[in-house]
Amino acid sequence: MPELENPFQDTQMQQHRAQPCTLVIFGATGDLTHRKLIPALYNIAVSGDLPPQFKVVGFARREKTDEVFRAELCEANAKHSRQGHNEQMWGSFAQSIHYHRSEFEDVDGYRALAGLLDAFDKERGTVANRLFYLASAPEYFDQIMEQLRKAGLNNGIGDRWARVVCEKPFGKDLKTARHLNEVVNETFDEGDTYRIDHYLGKETAQNIMVLRFANSLFEPNWNSRYIDHVQITCAENLGMEGGRGGYYDTAGALRDMVQNHLFQLLTLVAMEPPTDLSADSVRDEKVKVIRALRRLTGPEAVGQNVVRAQYTAGSVDGVPRVGYRQEERVNPESRTECYVALRLFVDTWRWQGVPFYIRVGKQLPKKATEISVHFKKPPQVPFATSVMIPDSENTLVIRIQPDEGISLRILCKQPGQALFVQPVKMDFHYSNSFGKASPEAYERLLLDAMAGDATLFARRDEVENAWRFIDEIEKAWHESPSPPPMCEYPAGSWGPKAADEMLARDGREWRRL
Ligand code: BG6
Repeated sequence: MPELENPFQDTQMQQHRAQPCTLVIFGATGDLTHRKLIPALYNIAVSGDLPPQFKVVGFARREKTDEVFRAELCEANAKHSRQGHNEQMWGSFAQSIHYHRSEFEDVDGYRALAGLLDAFDKERGTVANRLFYLASAPEYFDQIMEQLRKAGLNNGIGDRWARVVCEKPFGKDLKTARHLNEVVNETFDEGDTYRIDHYLGKETAQNIMVLRFANSLFEPNWNSRYIDHVQITCAENLGMEGGRGGYYDTAGALRDMVQNHLFQLLTLVAMEPPTDLSADSVRDEKVKVIRALRRLTGPEAVGQNVVRAQYTAGSVDGVPRVGYRQEERVNPESRTECYVALRLFVDTWRWQGVPFYIRVGKQLPKKATEISVHFKKPPQVPFATSVMIPDSENTLVIRIQPDEGISLRILCKQPGQALFVQPVKMDFHYSNSFGKASPEAYERLLLDAMAGDATLFARRDEVENAWRFIDEIEKAWHESPSPPPMCEYPAGSWGPKAADEMLARDGREWRRL
């Protein structure tokens, strides 16, 4: 019998070959450039994947020389680089880093940038490929796009390309996301637009599709006939450190994490197999999942299916923590949630009646992101009358981070003459099996953007459909005369009681992590 085509075959051989280019980072003096982007580029260079004709230009408003900029980045890289910091290696990488001072709205600054890029192209053969990275606050996106257009920097020349990478948050509701999309797409084609969701760059998130579609074991069972429910947990043991309270208090857990990262994980678990691995085929399937989410309209539906909460004072790992409203730069009267749990349904034939429970929160007992797929109990166990069968279900756990891996819980007979049954775990850890650390999400995403592969980036309709769903919940919380309550949980606990009660009503409970 001929073997079924393996959709991953072509890509197994495919190298993500970054094309020569100049990367321009807007908002280059910010935290993201220091903590993530430059360490990611340095590590790409260490791995030998950075094209030799590569330049990076930091575009920002403060006065600075190349040397000062490089020295600041050197210090940051030493702190944050995944594979350590080697002075010699840094020295040669740093030669490709430059600084360009300009206001975001100053067209002359962009003309000067165009001159600088042309000069690089001549000097280094960066062949006029340009990658513009929007790492500034989103309120500057309009101006940056307008000036790029005016300076003619948004168009590729001949077979040379110009692409744009947009950092999150991509809007704060459907209206603002649409506006951003219009602004960006007036300047760059959708095919040249790369919206970052760093969860998609995580090795373990990429593996979900491989696990599901390259193993014939799971796919036949991956539906409402065999799966009882799915849980997705994203727990963080931090609060508003590093002055994050200012931004976070305007966003909240639903906008900050669910609309993007958690929905991306949900779509990877729930999507149908794509016809091929092209960016659009994969994203077509993902967007169908978001569109099939049963809408939660009105305070009653939201009250029954969504729990929101704020942490009060408590302690995490024995360290005392203040309550959310006492955090720096958070409004003492804040109505912003830092925990949210949702009970969702994907209304497709495959998932009819299977709840997806999602929870995400700050100041929980530990940092852990995982997906657990809980299979139905067998309808009948032949020896159940003579022995005790533990009340345990087959559970497949995909650990996104930390301790990346996959485990499967099954029931087994204990060795011995008597028939005792107990649950055991089959466990796979990335670190043991592959003996090397996974690349950082930003390494993969930057390489993909340089290679022109948008599969791991959010498409316009994905983002807008996700906001459409989220907006209804926000509306029930903030515009309804009798909104669902804001619950509380002490820092260091696993969230509010109401979230446990939501599952208990379905006869289920949250998996203990
Ligand atoms: C960011 C959120 O997108 O993701 C943060 O804005 C959150 O609030 C972070 O802490 C979590 O990312 P990770 O990779 O540490 O799970």
